[in-house]
Amino acid sequence: MTITEIEKDFERDIALCATLPELQELRVKYLGKSGQLTVLLKSIKDLPPEERPTFGAKVNELRNNMERRFVARTDALKQDELARRLQEERVDISLTSCPERGALHPVTQIENEICDLLIALGFEVLSGPEIETDYYNFQALNIPDDHPARDMQDTFYITDSILLRTQTSAMQARVMEKRKPPLKIVCPGKVFRSDSDASHSPVFHQIEGLVVDKNITLCDLKGTLEYIAAHLFGEQTKVRFRPSFFPFTEPSVEVDLTCCNCGGKGCSLCKGTGWIEVLGAGMVNPYVLENCGIDSSKYNGYAFGIGMDRVAMIKYGIPDIRLFFENDKRFLKQFAK
Ligand code: DAH
Repeated sequence: MTITEIEKDFERDIALCATLPELQELRVKYLGKSGQLTVLLKSIKDLPPEERPTFGAKVNELRNNMERRFVARTDALKQDELARRLQEERVDISLTSCPERGALHPVTQIENEICDLLIALGFEVLSGPEIETDYYNFQALNIPDDHPARDMQDTFYITDSILLRTQTSAMQARVMEKRKPPLKIVCPGKVFRSDSDASHSPVFHQIEGLVVDKNITLCDLKGTLEYIAAHLFGEQTKVRFRPSFFPFTEPSVEVDLTCCNCGGKGCSLCKGTGWIEVLGAGMVNPYVLENCGIDSSKYNGYAFGIGMDRVAMIKYGIPDIRLFFENDKRFLKQFAK
């Protein structure tokens, strides 16, 4: 092959070369140990001596040219490769499709607040089953079969003896059966009743408190409730006990707080009374202690059950309990912290 032929081939090859490995192959083809140009250079010895300098100079010139072209082509291919990767691996940081931030449901916030307050007093938080037996929900709590108190709670029965729990009080019996005093527990959770209007929902949330120890008094109960009320509704909040009846407490009380809307003067929220009824409580009925194997001559205790939805409604001025369960984001967003 002549110099001109090699040069022509090389120009065509290098123009077609599209990748760095191909370029390396070309280098071997032309400049390698048995490459075309190397072979040509070796053939110099077969030429008459007078032609050798000119021939040698031409071959060298072509080789230098090739070297320059290889360097230039390598640079160009590396640039192309970089541009391709930048394009392919590009992250579009201008996209604004970040997921929307969630927030805790207002009732969950109330639950967390009450639990935190009680944990600080040494209570332990426990949870129990929503599908409950008639025994724990009623009988163990001194509510036998035909007891009129059952009418107060419209129960969803699954079978004759299995139901959706109507009250977190069911946890009282479960815990007292397993553990012995001193007991200081709090049980938040869902409860169910067949009832639906602006202030009743078939599912709602209660939190049950139970303390069993020696020499517990109604004052201990009141102190605990005053502490919770002050933190939930403000330091100035007062707590009032009114006599009431629950089969599982004796005596039983209905607990009112001074209205957080008017401070006790009387407004539409408290229907002019200055007080809002918030929860039921009392001293644990000795029958319940005995049902659970606790000696009522040695131990006594108090219990309370707070409707957490109701607390949230009072605290935030929400007129209809059903708003909590509709999952309308416009409503829920207002409570995002
Ligand atoms: N379980 C009752 C209810 O759902 C509320 C309640 C009243 C709970 C008195 C208690 C209590 O622990 O002592 O209406």
